[in-house]
Amino acid sequence: MRHNEMVYVTPLPVRIWHWLNAFGIVTLCVTGLQIRFPDYVNVFGAYKAAIRLHNTAGTVVSISYTLWIGYYLVVARSLIKLYVPTLEDLKTGIFRQAYFYFLTYFLGKPNPHHSTPDSKFNPMQKAAYLVIMLILLPLVIVSGILLMYVAPLRELFLLLGGIKMLVGSHFLLACCFTAFLFVHIYLATLGHTPLAHFKPMWNGWEEEVIEDDTGDGAGDAHSDPKPERKDMV
Ligand code: HEM
Repeated sequence: MRHNEMVYVTPLPVRIWHWLNAFGIVTLCVTGLQIRFPDYVNVFGAYKAAIRLHNTAGTVVSISYTLWIGYYLVVARSLIKLYVPTLEDLKTGIFRQAYFYFLTYFLGKPNPHHSTPDSKFNPMQKAAYLVIMLILLPLVIVSGILLMYVAPLRELFLLLGGIKMLVGSHFLLACCFTAFLFVHIYLATLGHTPLAHFKPMWNGWEEEVIEDDTGDGAGDAHSDPKPERKDMV
C-alpha cells in the first residue's frame, strides 16, 4: 500500500527570496550577455540601458542574498543542517543520487531521498547548493560590486591582477551560473511528476509518496517504489 503525505518544506521567506533571486540572476545573464557581446546581442536596446539594468538586478540579487543568509543563519538556524553534506552523503549518498538521476529514474525506480523539513535536500542538491550559495554567489556579488566602482578602486584592482583579471573571473562565474540554471531546472523536473518539485517553491508543500510497510519486507517509508504514473496527482 502506498499513500501520499504532504510535507511543509519551503517557508515563505525562502520562496520569496528564491523567485526574486531567480528573476534577478536570469536578468543578469541576459543583460550580461549584451554587455559582453554588444555586436551580437541586443535585447534591451541601448548599451547603457543594459548596464543600468544589470547593475539594478545585481543590487537586487545582493540584497536578497543578504536576506537569505540572514534568514537561514539567524531566524531558521538551519543552514548547516540543510545545506552541508554529511560524511555519509559524500561517501555514498552523492553516488546513490547520481545513479538515480542518470539511470534508475529512467527505469521507473524510486528516488532514494525523501524530503522532510529537517532534510529537504538530497546529497547532490546539498553539495550543489552549498557551492552555489556559499562560494559562487558571494564571489560573483563581490566581483560585480568591485566592477561597479572601477575608478575609485583602481589601486585595489592592480593588487588583484588588473581589471582584465576581474572582468574575466566575473564572466567565468556568470558562465557557471548559466550552466547551473539549465541543470537545476532540468533536475527539478525529475520529481514523481514533472511539477512535483516546483509546487513547494510556490506554496511550501511537497507531496511525498510513501510506501507503507506491509510486514512482508516489501518496503518501508523510506524505500518507496516509484509510483505508477496514473497514481500521480
Ligand atoms: C528560472 C530559474 C529557476 C527556476 C525555475 C528554479 C526552480 C527551482 C525549484 C523547482 C526548486 C525546488 C526543487 C529543488 O530544491 O531543486 C528550487 C530550489 C532552489 N533553487 Fe532554484 N530555480 C531557478 C533559479 C535559481 C537560481 C538562479 C539559484 C541560485 C543562484 C537557485 C537556487 C536554488 C536553491 C538554493 C534552492 C533551494 C531553496 C530552499 O528550499 O532552501 N535557483 N529552484
